[in-house]
Amino acid sequence: MSKDLSRIRFHKDILSTIGSTPLVRLNKIGHGIKPLMFAKVESFNPGGSVKDRIGIGIIEEAEREGRLKPGGTIVEATSGNTGLGLAIAAAVKGYRCVFTMPDKMSIEKIRLLRAFGADVIVTPTAVPHESPESYTEVAKRVVRETPNSILANQYYNPKNPEAHYSTTGPEIWEQTGGQIDHFICALGTGGTISGTGRFLKERNPKIRVIGIDPKGSILREYFYTKKFSPVFKTYKVEGIGQDYVPGVLQFQFVDDVIEVTDKESFLMARRLTREEGIFVGGSAGTAMAGALKYAETLDKEDIVVVLLPDTGERYLSKIYNDDWMRENRFLIPERITVRYVLSGKRGIPELVSIHPAATVRKALDLISEHNVSQLPVIEGDDAVGSVEESDLMSAVLSNPATFDAPISSVMKPAFPRVQADEPIQQAIRVLSKKHPAVLVEHEKKLMGILTRFDVIEYMSR
Ligand SMILES: Cc1ncc(COP(=O)(O)O)c(C=O)c1O
Repeated sequence: MSKDLSRIRFHKDILSTIGSTPLVRLNKIGHGIKPLMFAKVESFNPGGSVKDRIGIGIIEEAEREGRLKPGGTIVEATSGNTGLGLAIAAAVKGYRCVFTMPDKMSIEKIRLLRAFGADVIVTPTAVPHESPESYTEVAKRVVRETPNSILANQYYNPKNPEAHYSTTGPEIWEQTGGQIDHFICALGTGGTISGTGRFLKERNPKIRVIGIDPKGSILREYFYTKKFSPVFKTYKVEGIGQDYVPGVLQFQFVDDVIEVTDKESFLMARRLTREEGIFVGGSAGTAMAGALKYAETLDKEDIVVVLLPDTGERYLSKIYNDDWMRENRFLIPERITVRYVLSGKRGIPELVSIHPAATVRKALDLISEHNVSQLPVIEGDDAVGSVEESDLMSAVLSNPATFDAPISSVMKPAFPRVQADEPIQQAIRVLSKKHPAVLVEHEKKLMGILTRFDVIEYMSR
C-alpha cells in the first residue's frame, strides 16, 4: 500500500523552517522598568541566526535573473552568519560557496562554514573596508576570478532588507497583535532594521525604531551628523558596526541610534543566557544593553521588542570563556570583591591546609610541595590555628625532635577571616596589619585563603 504523504506533517526541505521565530517575554532583565520587554529570538532559525532569512532570497533572485546557473559559486564577505545562511541554501540547491571573513571572527564560525563544505578565506580585521586586503575587497576579487559566480553582496543587495520586510516585520506585527511600540536591533548591514522598520512604520508610523551601534563604529555619528571621522577603531563584538555606511541601511526608518561598549555587550549576553535562559551571541548583548538604556527612559507600559540575532554557541571560545573575558578586561566587576580576586588565583588549589594532629614534617612537606609560606590549621570545618614556614624552620633547627611534634604544639592563632563578597579593600586592610594571610568565607563556610602575595600579584596585573 502506498503511503499517504498528506498525513505526514513535514517541511519540504530545511529552508522552509526559516523564520517564524518565537517572541519571548523577558522576565528578569528589565525587571522594575515600566515597559514590557520581549525578545525576538533568531537563534531558532536552522543556521542559528537572523541571517538565514536573507540567504535564500539572495540566491533565488540571482537564479531568476540568470546570474547564477547550476554548478555556480556563491561568494560573500561575511562575519559568519550570512555565510551560514547562504551555505544552507547552497547545500540544498547544490552550489559551491567561498566566504571571506575578518580574522577577529570566532574560530567556531570558520569551522561551521567549513562543515557545510564552504571555502573560507580569512582576512585582516584592522584594515579599512576599501583596502585590497579587506574582506569585502577580497570577496570581489574572488568573483572576478571565478566563472559562473555571484557576489551575494549583503551590504548593497536590496534582497537583504526585503527579506525582513516580508518576514521579520510581519511576524513581529502579528506576534504583538499590532501593539508593538518600539522595535530595537543592532546595526550591521542595516538590513534587519531597514526592512523590519519600514514594515512596522507602514503599519503604524508611531512605532519607534531604535538602532544600537557598538562603540568604535561610525554609524551613530553618521546618523546624527551625516559625517564621520576617518579614524578607524576596532572593537570585539562580531557582526555589527561599520567603518562606512552600507548601501542597504535606510536611516529614514530609524528614529534614534544608541551606543554600547564591548564590555556592556558581552556582560549582557551572559546575563541573557544565565538569567533568561536564552543563549545568545555578543550582538544580542549589544541590542539588549541598548534596549535597556532606551527603555529606562520610558514611563509607560509600552511594548518593546528587541531582536536577538544569533546563538551563543559560536562564541564559546570568547564571550563564554572566562579566560578570554579576563584577558580582554571585560570581566572586571565595578566593585572588586574578595571572591573575584580569589577566583583569579593562579596555580595553587584554593585551600591547602594541615590538621592539628599532623606532624611538623608533614607541614613542611606541604609548604614545599605547594610553594607557599604559611598554612591554615583546620579541624573539621573549623580553622583552629596557623603555621608559618619561618617559625617551623626555626623550631626544627633549634630542636630536630620538633619534626615529629604535632602541629597543635607549635601553631599560632588562626588567620583572620574576611567575607567573600566584601570589597577586596577589606582583605588589604587586614593583610597590612602584619597578618600574612586571610581566610575567605561565605555563609560560614571556608572557601579559600588569600595571602599577601596573592593580593600583590593581583594588584600588579
Ligand atoms: C551576529 C550578528 N548580529 C547582528 C547582525 C546585524 O544584522 P544586519 O546586517 O541585518 O544589520 C549581523 C549581521 O551580519 C550579525 O552577524
